[in-house]
Amino acid sequence: MCGIIGYVGSKNNTELGIRALKRLEYRGYDSAGMAIIEESGLESVKVSGKVDKLRDKLKETDFKGTPTLFHSRWSTHGGPTRENAHPQFDCKGEVAVVHNGIIENFTKIKERLIEEGHKFSSETDTEVIAHLIEKFYDGDLEEAVRKAINLLEGAYGLAVISTKEPDKIIAAKMSSPVVVSVNEAGGFVSSDPAAIVEHSKNMIFLEDEEIAIVTEDGFRIKDRDQNVLEKEEVEIDWDLKEAQKSGYDHFMMKEMMEQPKSIKDSIRGRITDDGDVKLGGLDEISHELESLEKLTILACGTSHFASMVGKYLIEEISGIPVEVGLASEFRYRKRPYDKKEGFLFVSQSGETADTLKALEEVKKRHALTLGIVNVVGSSIARKTDGGVYNHAGPEIGVASTKAFTSQLSILTLLAVYLGRQRDLSKPESAKILTELEQLPKKVESILENREEIKEKAERYKDYEHFLFMGRRYNYPTAMEGALKLKEISYIHAEGYSAAEMKHGPIALIDEDFPTFAVCLQSSVYGKMISNVEEIRARKGPMIVLATEGDEDIKNHSDDVIEIPQTMEVLSPVLAVVPFQLFAYYMAVLKGFDPDKPRNLSKVVTVE
Ligand code: M6R
Repeated sequence: MCGIIGYVGSKNNTELGIRALKRLEYRGYDSAGMAIIEESGLESVKVSGKVDKLRDKLKETDFKGTPTLFHSRWSTHGGPTRENAHPQFDCKGEVAVVHNGIIENFTKIKERLIEEGHKFSSETDTEVIAHLIEKFYDGDLEEAVRKAINLLEGAYGLAVISTKEPDKIIAAKMSSPVVVSVNEAGGFVSSDPAAIVEHSKNMIFLEDEEIAIVTEDGFRIKDRDQNVLEKEEVEIDWDLKEAQKSGYDHFMMKEMMEQPKSIKDSIRGRITDDGDVKLGGLDEISHELESLEKLTILACGTSHFASMVGKYLIEEISGIPVEVGLASEFRYRKRPYDKKEGFLFVSQSGETADTLKALEEVKKRHALTLGIVNVVGSSIARKTDGGVYNHAGPEIGVASTKAFTSQLSILTLLAVYLGRQRDLSKPESAKILTELEQLPKKVESILENREEIKEKAERYKDYEHFLFMGRRYNYPTAMEGALKLKEISYIHAEGYSAAEMKHGPIALIDEDFPTFAVCLQSSVYGKMISNVEEIRARKGPMIVLATEGDEDIKNHSDDVIEIPQTMEVLSPVLAVVPFQLFAYYMAVLKGFDPDKPRNLSKVVTVE
């Protein structure tokens, strides 16, 4: 959740560090800090607040040294104060540590260190690491870091510098991501490739329990037994422009507007001329997929809602029974496994701790694992037996938008792929795929009408509660619409299956509780109209998402948003877009920054 950067080299370190940190700011942003080894010793600047505040403070300095560490923090232990900002230091101010993760046993370690005479100056769990390194340092920083992390329980991605060995950064990883890159500009460590992709697209991803020793012109990576490892570089297929706002006010708007392209990129080269699906990342496990009798999909947040749509898709198109679960809950279930059961993990970042832990749990049972992941080289992508990359480009806004529509597109491809291995005929498959290829144009036409959604946001901005409801394929869309609204505009929103309303939630409805109903031409159209009328009978204002040309729907609503016609199985890709835009405009109208919603972080690397 926090962003960590380490740099050793001769470039202008503070500007370089700030630029990298700005790209990580979305991960956590309640405080920020940096440390640098100058000729005079270890210097640091820390602020409570955003990275820009750190940048302003740095303008008052004239640092020239190296190596340097930067950090943007999403608080876990201790509030977002200057003292709790990272880096954290040892007693003598010689060791600096930046950390992403949670040290679960820090209280015990801290008590022991205090007994031994160490003086603490923050409430963070991280500070124990600096003091442990101080305690164990005996002329070898790498060894001191190794001894320190051997005592840690929990999750960490960390980078360490010390005045005793100022030519290097030591990085270590357990459950939280760390990448290393050494190129002409020098040696880099980061929690996210996006931060350093400006300098090189080639990255080394550390695995758990590995340690990296990074210098200006090289690196060594060792495993827990100190064996030096030969690790392959992963090429990141993003360019820097994709990680910038490119003239938009917010990343979220940019990413929503990119959806026609990201959907195209997700399906490009994966549909053959004769109506089949080609997914290179599944080639090696295609035989196992042929004999699959059950698929369980695990994910969190928006990726979980995409997975819920995936269940309908895969069951309908391929006939394979699908279970969908929250990765966080799955991990703690005592659940029997089916013999021919496969597991699919869906994650934009590929680093979500709950999803990663569920994957590790499944791997212990030797079940087949697949991933649908956007970030190339991320932990989930590396640890699954096979998978499909989204190729949606970097998603920076905390609210997931283009990743969702990309996930839906890939889940459609997967459903057809599995279907073709079974009873799905070529003409049926071609019909779905042809329509899938039409979606970018249709999404574009919704985005072109965004002013209309903005007007709706202006009209409804003073309401404090919203209901989103849909059925079948668009029940998850309703859940996603509600999540978007709550996470960036802090408005209470409920996402429900329209059918469930009368089992309780309809009691909430009155003239102050508007409903968004996904009421498209589909197998559940008639039932949706009944559910809409049940709400209207209780005076609930009704905004209906309807298929273009549906004149009758106006008799059942106060407001209508039209979207182009498509097949029901593909309709969530279109239906979600007005909900994304509505949430965005509501947030902006209320004066909130949709890219940086309070209390949230883009990548949830703690459980
Ligand atoms: O990176 P992941 O897809 O695994 O992330 C899962 C959720 O944390 C994420 O979708 C979250 O719910 C978003 N903020 C939703 O907009």
